[in-house]
Amino acid sequence: MPKPLSHKTIEWVGGLDGQVRMIDQTLLPGECRMISCGDVETLWEAIRNLRVRGAPAIGVAAAFGVVLAIRQATTTRMLFEKLTQAYEYLGKCRPTAVNLYWALNRMRQAAESHRDLPLEQLKAFLLAEANAIRDEDAATCRAIGEMGQALIAEGAAVLTHCNAGGLATAEYGTALAVMYAAHERGRRFRVYAGETRPLLQGARLTAWELANAGVDVTVICDSMAGLLMRQGKVDLVVTGADRIARNGDTANKIGTYGLAVLAKAHRIPFYVAAPLSTFDPALPDGTAIPIEERAAEEVSKGFGRVSVPEGVACYNPAFDVTPAELISGIITERGLIRPVNAAGVEEILKIGPCKAKERR
Ligand code: MRU
Repeated sequence: MPKPLSHKTIEWVGGLDGQVRMIDQTLLPGECRMISCGDVETLWEAIRNLRVRGAPAIGVAAAFGVVLAIRQATTTRMLFEKLTQAYEYLGKCRPTAVNLYWALNRMRQAAESHRDLPLEQLKAFLLAEANAIRDEDAATCRAIGEMGQALIAEGAAVLTHCNAGGLATAEYGTALAVMYAAHERGRRFRVYAGETRPLLQGARLTAWELANAGVDVTVICDSMAGLLMRQGKVDLVVTGADRIARNGDTANKIGTYGLAVLAKAHRIPFYVAAPLSTFDPALPDGTAIPIEERAAEEVSKGFGRVSVPEGVACYNPAFDVTPAELISGIITERGLIRPVNAAGVEEILKIGPCKAKERR
């Protein structure tokens, strides 16, 4: 599969005294600038302000954040104190994507199961674990692409929302990995990218990476999706996910639920692509998924331009939940869940996520 991005979305550069390097996604598509984070506070700001974003990429960032937090520890006891502080601090950064907690839990478990190592070895082990989380995510996304590519037929038109591409993951993406894998097989198809108000991840990021990879992409305003479906211009919808409950209810970028309702009304298949690290088996359904609410200014003064009269309130939930019954299938690295229900989710979760030994 071609690598659609010339730079890594996020990576650790150097040894234990190194830094986290990432694409500053707030500057795209105008500029592809790399930034570095050398402390956990700078990393927190980068996640909070969407310099790095997308559920799996946030998970990778959080894992690197733990390394930034613990590396100055001078005793094992101090290392565990710093780890607990980092868990609390980074865990409050963005509440909806479960991959953040998944990665923090994995780092904590890795530390606890190796607490008898000499201090410097324990630190090196945690850096290796964070790098493994990044590498496994790349392999996982590639597998999702392979599992889902057959859903995109020659000549099809696919609608996607937000950015579930290489920028949102370690590499390849989830929804976009499916498209990259179909593209690699020489299949010709068209992608409609919903612009994704208010922060325009679809217009700025999805269009940028698909165009760079040579995939035929057209941006539409979010409000145009219904018309396109009615005109017969959409064959299937594929989106990513931020958190999937045990019954398959799925949180994703605000606007996804509306697309799923529209797809149902027009009898168009609606697929979600996500790694197993996006599932939250602790939640029986989507009602308990925490929905991040962001600053009103993202709506009223998007990209520096005032678009709402002074003093008028704006409501800005960043995610919504699509009920399982509106989802035709969930594409995971372990196969397709179809129909989407608690039994199907349980079956896939039993197999478990990709491990380092499966890395390609
Ligand atoms: O607020 P964002 O840009 O982090 O939201 C991202 C999304 O909603 C993506 O669709 C989701 O994280 C899946 S990324 C593979």
